[in-house]
Amino acid sequence: MPLISMKPMLAAARRAGYGVGAFNIVDYNSARAVVRAAEEIRAPVIVQTSVKTVKFWGAPAIGGWLRELAEKTRVPVALHLDHCTRLDVIVQCLAAGWTSVMIDASDKPFEENLTLTKKVLEITEPLGVGVEAELGAIGGVEDDRKVSDADAHLVDPERAAAFCELPLAVFAPAIGTAHGYYKSAPKIAFDRLETLFRGTSMPFALHGGTGLSDEVFQRCIQLGCAKINISTQLKHSFIDSFVEYHQAKKEYEPLKPLGAQFDRMKHEVIEKIRQFGGEGRGPDYELER
Ligand code: 13P
Repeated sequence: MPLISMKPMLAAARRAGYGVGAFNIVDYNSARAVVRAAEEIRAPVIVQTSVKTVKFWGAPAIGGWLRELAEKTRVPVALHLDHCTRLDVIVQCLAAGWTSVMIDASDKPFEENLTLTKKVLEITEPLGVGVEAELGAIGGVEDDRKVSDADAHLVDPERAAAFCELPLAVFAPAIGTAHGYYKSAPKIAFDRLETLFRGTSMPFALHGGTGLSDEVFQRCIQLGCAKINISTQLKHSFIDSFVEYHQAKKEYEPLKPLGAQFDRMKHEVIEKIRQFGGEGRGPDYELER
């Protein structure tokens, strides 16, 4: 089927209480592994790209890969732009077929963040494209932006209400998770998440999924996190699987380590989708549309 917006996908997930995995891809092989994983267990899936990845390959190339992969599968696939601070990049991606975008103005003052988010909604609404916005500051490194522990701060639930009234596909509240591997167990602000959850039916995005415990995932999903982001784990399996294959076989046939890389990533994506409760939800979604 064609690529779809993540908006109805995430509304269905929040209603039914499961999470849709959102996996950052870096090339065609990783994109193919994510889509095939979802297909194998009949799950909806979000394929997301960082701005850095868009700049590396160019938006038309990535849009073309994903359109082709989605058309060949029967599970719903959304193509999402992760953490984008620039309107021109959003417009480029929309022209190349992205069906969802994140405007990340979380480092701006509250009013500016809200205004920019509304501006993106004005552009995307007529196109049926889903929008994600963030409030608070999620720690760690994403693309080339580093948010130190001292600068990371939690979402303010009162201010978050203004975002949850917008027609967003998903809202990303900073609740104490961080991008990258955790050096110690993160302190998750479940109290704030619960306050948000009780006040809105808006689905939430859980950033910094790599390294979170199953208990954290399950509690966050119960409290409305319908989009679960995984990037760092896949970056590691992308590199490690290729290198380990070569170290073991010492061959110079690139398609073989690429095959090993595909298998490892697909396996890990299947595990994550199962953990978030997405298995078998692709057809459900079809019925709800
Ligand atoms: P991790 O890199 O920690 O998995 O976080 C991914 C993410 O939130 C992307 O926006």
